[in-house]
Amino acid sequence: MTLIQPQRRPRRLRVSPAMRRLVRETRPSADALILPIFVHESVSSPQPIASMPGVSHHTLDSLAALVDDACVAGIGGVMLFAVPARRDATGTAAADPAGILNRAITRAVAAADGRLVVMADLCLDEFTDHGHCGVLDDRGGVDNDATLAAYGEMALAQARAGAHVLGLSGMMDGQVGYVRAVLDAAGYIETSLLAYAAKYASAFYGPFRDAVQSDLQGDRKTYQMDPGNGREGLLEAELDEAEGADIVMVKPALPYLDVLAEVAAASRVPVAAYHVSGEYSQIEAAAERGWLDRRAAHLEVLTSMVRAGSDIVVTYAALELAAWLAES
Ligand code: PBG
Repeated sequence: MTLIQPQRRPRRLRVSPAMRRLVRETRPSADALILPIFVHESVSSPQPIASMPGVSHHTLDSLAALVDDACVAGIGGVMLFAVPARRDATGTAAADPAGILNRAITRAVAAADGRLVVMADLCLDEFTDHGHCGVLDDRGGVDNDATLAAYGEMALAQARAGAHVLGLSGMMDGQVGYVRAVLDAAGYIETSLLAYAAKYASAFYGPFRDAVQSDLQGDRKTYQMDPGNGREGLLEAELDEAEGADIVMVKPALPYLDVLAEVAAASRVPVAAYHVSGEYSQIEAAAERGWLDRRAAHLEVLTSMVRAGSDIVVTYAALELAAWLAES
């Protein structure tokens, strides 16, 4: 019988580690990694977060040490979240210069000393006693425009504290344009805005809500996006870019790589992806059981986000990823 040989042999470029290294299309870099950090006002030493193995609540001192580690690891930035000692209906601690998040910003900026970018979460959910990302109207709904005013105050406090980038994660309409105008009017023209542009109402935020000890009753479906909507994710990113976002983000990452790819194709600003708490913890939990190779899984996931078009990746595994990337 006649032997019919394949005309094309893609396996030729997979024959050796050297060849695979040469032809690899996607090369993730530590430069593009952002490490989220939780600062807790009521702890006196770092405390592990049960739902997020390897992640801790930090004091201001341990924050400074961790920022230094991040600089040494060569990652691109950190994103600060805070757990305040006291919460109220309007989240007043968010805009207080002595509030934990604003003090953390100043501390992190000093520790970084120009070696990486310090970002801060700009949202009310960690500061409100009802747990919503905004202030409530008399019927208990989240009042969009009243929330904008609160975000403006919070933005000024964060800019004054020295934050390089403000991460607008509340999903209020018009938040980017509003905060940009407030900052510009006060002279903070160099404070950048990272817009959580396409942020979905996701089950994968579970461990994070544990981490920030959120008392949220109900859900965030009137402001975060419906998981079924891809086109709307593009609209949100377009609006944020038009309102002046310096960076747009898609969140979570893996369940929304299609949205990420489309946003990356359409945007003219850098695009970020947030590999969120639930995405992180599911790898950790499976690895703990010996069900998958932790390092390989984290590296594969990072590669997939970059391949889909992400310029910047926010991940709880940032420090380890940087070490693994340096080794390989
Ligand atoms: C809101 C905010 C959330 C996350 C980041 N910013 C929680 C939410 O929207 O419920 C989730 C991050 C994660 O799950 O890792 N300020």
